[in-house]
Amino acid sequence: MVSQTLSEGLSDAILDYITSNPSSESNYQNASQYLPSGNTRSVLYTSPFPITFVSAEGITLSSADGRTYLDFLGEYTAGLFGHSNERIKRAIQEVVESGWGFGGIGQWEGQLAKGICERFGIERCRFTNSGTEANLMAIAVAKAVTHRKRILVFGGAYHGSVLAFPSTKAQSPLNVPHEFIIGHYNDIQYIKDLQQDPMVTNDLAAILVEQMQGAGGCHAASYEFLQALRALADSTKSILIFDEVMTSRLHPGGFQSFYGIKPDMTTLGKYLAGGSSFGCFGGKEKIMRVFDERRDDGGLVLSHPGTFNNNVISMKAGCVALEILTDDVLVEMNKLGEGMRTEINELCIKYGVQERMWVTGVGSLMAVHFGERQEEEQWKEYVRTKNKDLEDLFWFWMVGNGVYLARRGFVALTIEHRREHVERFLEVVEGFLQKWACIIR
Ligand SMILES: Cc1ncc(COP(=O)(O)O)c(C=O)c1O
Repeated sequence: MVSQTLSEGLSDAILDYITSNPSSESNYQNASQYLPSGNTRSVLYTSPFPITFVSAEGITLSSADGRTYLDFLGEYTAGLFGHSNERIKRAIQEVVESGWGFGGIGQWEGQLAKGICERFGIERCRFTNSGTEANLMAIAVAKAVTHRKRILVFGGAYHGSVLAFPSTKAQSPLNVPHEFIIGHYNDIQYIKDLQQDPMVTNDLAAILVEQMQGAGGCHAASYEFLQALRALADSTKSILIFDEVMTSRLHPGGFQSFYGIKPDMTTLGKYLAGGSSFGCFGGKEKIMRVFDERRDDGGLVLSHPGTFNNNVISMKAGCVALEILTDDVLVEMNKLGEGMRTEINELCIKYGVQERMWVTGVGSLMAVHFGERQEEEQWKEYVRTKNKDLEDLFWFWMVGNGVYLARRGFVALTIEHRREHVERFLEVVEGFLQKWACIIR
């Protein structure tokens, strides 16, 4: 029996965290004098302060406070190769030896484009510096090609810093000022009804969708929903864009090859440059030809200059990354994740908390949830029924026991994860349940 209340437990956990991480706190205080909330990447902020890391090897992170952590966050999916893959390291070292920043074409971008196009069944692609930028470009191209304005997105979606849609009723004030229709994710009837809406039939330029909402809690779309989107795009002659920035790792050929539904355009990013900055948008040649400056048919020619689009570190690391990530390696990583998720949910059942704590996701990506499961399952409207205090308590527990994951319960495996790492994760989760199950229930 636990003798503490949730708020007492949380206060103790925070105090313990503060006393265990003095160097991280001091680094945070210093940085806060120049960086709002002490960081330059909002997702990394965590109260009372985030851990400062000083080095990493494999999937072990070392902090400024001399502590080590098993990394289950995997750099929010960009760290799929772990932190020190020898082949990627060598590729970057070779770039360092041979010089960078040519202000000209290098030998790697063509090779990387070939690898990406062949892997994901894309006819032509262009590179950017981030997933956000890839989505911005894809939307802009869709508007230019269709001569229409409206973009259908979904509540709960995250497509980048200026493309965030936490619910059907809210979007980030920082969003780019496109004319968004924020729809209901996974609601097939809603999509069928849109077929009758003149705003959609006359003016829909693009549908932008994640096949699994990642930041939105690792909820996957149904096949029928994606099929309805394909039908809507076909009937309205709009462009269906799959945002595979996170999900492309879930299946050889991307998550789209699992569903067998082809978009007109795909956006990519995260791990594909081996952990260096990267984004990519691409699709059918008849769309992407707007970037073909050799065009002499009088059609639209657009410019996409981008200083770092072909930065040689990302280009070369990307080529090597594609070689490392064979279908077998990728399938193995996702299999490990499937098993891990099943086992976490089994632990929740064993401790009788499954209605208040559970895990969702696909393959190597998952999110641990705390709240009212009944309501969470009706998440078309994306009602967040989170129990934030339990979510926080869980994070402090995991981190206090040397397991690092996102504060929101998000987990991304890497190709460096092995069964013994998963067993350690499960052991720490079970310790949490032994102590706190009676409060969670
Ligand atoms: C689905 C999805 N799209 C786009 C982005 C934005 O990518 P980036 O952070 O590289 O701008 C993210 C980032 O988390 C994402 O998960």
